Amino acid sequence: MIADFEFYSPTRVVFGKDTERRTGDLIRNLGFKKVLIVYGGGSAKRSGLLDRVEESLGRQGIAFVEKGGVKPNPRLSFVYEGARLGRKEKVEMILAVGGGSVIDTAKAIAYALANEGDVWDFYDFKRKASACLPVGVVLTIAASGSELSNSSVITDERTNCKRSYNNDLARPVFAVMNPALTETLPPFQTACGCCDILMHTMERYFTNGAKMELTDAIAEGLLRTVMKEALVLRDNPADYEARAEVMWAGSLSHNDLTGCGSRERDFATHRLEHEVSGLFDVAHGAGLTSLWGSWARYVYKDCLHRFRRFALQVMKVEETGTDEEIALKGIEAMEAFFHAMGMPLGFHELGIAPTEAQLRQLAHMCSVTAHDHLGSARVLHEADMYAIYKAASRR
Ligand code: NZQ
Ligand code: ZN
Repeated sequence: MIADFEFYSPTRVVFGKDTERRTGDLIRNLGFKKVLIVYGGGSAKRSGLLDRVEESLGRQGIAFVEKGGVKPNPRLSFVYEGARLGRKEKVEMILAVGGGSVIDTAKAIAYALANEGDVWDFYDFKRKASACLPVGVVLTIAASGSELSNSSVITDERTNCKRSYNNDLARPVFAVMNPALTETLPPFQTACGCCDILMHTMERYFTNGAKMELTDAIAEGLLRTVMKEALVLRDNPADYEARAEVMWAGSLSHNDLTGCGSRERDFATHRLEHEVSGLFDVAHGAGLTSLWGSWARYVYKDCLHRFRRFALQVMKVEETGTDEEIALKGIEAMEAFFHAMGMPLGFHELGIAPTEAQLRQLAHMCSVTAHDHLGSARVLHEADMYAIYKAASRR
C-alpha cells in the first residue's frame, strides 16, 4: 500500500553551463540588496568562480560581504563567527558558494540570524527554529543534496558532536548548478560524492512497510545511473554529460522524491557515519561506504524482500539460489562497486583505528542522538550499533 505523503521542494533550480553568471539576477528578482557570501577552503577562489559570482552580483547592484574558510564537517564556531558578521552587516540573505559543508554552514548562519538565542539549541533538540533567512546556493560538488534538502549538519568541535537539524524553512530558495564547476574536484571527492548520493536513495529504499512502484522505479533508475556515470567519471573526470547526470541525481536523491509513498526512512548508515566523521573528521562519503556493508549484512534478513529486489533490479545479479543468497550477492556487488571507485569497505581502509572504548563511545553517542533507536530495515539499539561498528573495525 502507498503511504500518504507530503512533498515540498520549493527550490528554484537553474541548471547548466555558465549559470553562475545568473546569480545576481536571481537575487535581484527576490528583492534582496545585501548578501553574506559563504565559501570553503579556497577552491571557489582558486577556480575564479567566486569572482564570477561577485561580478554577477555587482552587475545587479547587490552589496555583499564574504566569509571564506568553511572546513569539511563544518564547525559550530565558524557558524557563530558568520552570524556575528551577518548581524553586523545587516545582510538579508546568505549565499553559499560550495558543497554540503558550505551550504549547511549557510543554513546554520541563516537560522542564527533569524532567531534569538544559541543556534546550537536547534541541533541539540532543545527547541525548533521559527524562522530562517533565505539561503541561495551555487553548487560546486554533487554529493550532500543540501542544495535541495531541509537538512543542515554541523559539528560542535568542543564535544565532537555532529548533529543534523531538519526544517523546511532552510530549503534553499534557489540552487545554481553548473556541472562543469565540479570538474576541478579531486577524484576522491567525486567518488565520495557519488557514494553519498547512492546512500541518500538507499536510505529511503531499504525500509519495511508501504512502498510505491513509481518511487521504486525512480530510485532504481537513479542508483543505476549514478553507478554507471561514476565509473565514467573515474576514468574521464572531464566528461560533462556524466557530471550533469550525477549532479541532478544528487539533488533528487535527497529532496525526498525517492521516499514518496514510503512509510519510513532508514538512515541508520548515515546516523552511524555522522558519529564517525564527528570523532575522526573523515570525508562523509568514505565514512558511509566503510559502514554500509557491515550494516547491510547485519540487517538484510529483516528486510529480505527489499534486498532481493535491489540485487535484481539495481545490481542485476543472476536470479539463482535462495532469496538470502540473492540478497547477499547484491550486497557484494555494491561493495565491489565501492571498491572499484577506490572507496573503503571498513575502518581499516578508511584509515582510522578506533579503540574498543571509542567503538563503545560511537555506539553510545549514536543512540543518544537517535533518542535510543534508529532504522527501518531493522530497528537498531545501542548494542546493534556497537556490533556494526565492531564489524566495520575488522575490515
Ligand atoms: O573547501 P574547498 O576548498 O571548497 O574544498 C572542498 C572540500 O575540501 C572540496 N571542493 C568542493 N567543491 C570543489 C572542491 N574542490 C575542487 N573543486 C570543486 N568544485 O571538496 C571538499 C569537500 O567539500 P564538502 O562541502 O565537505 O563536501 P560535501 O558536499 O560532500 O559535504 C559534506 C558535508 O555535508 C554533510 C556531511 O555530513 C558533511 O558534513 N551532509 C549534509 C547533508 C544535507 N545538508 O542534506 C546530507 C548529507 O547526508 C551529509 O550528511
Ligand atoms: Zn549523506
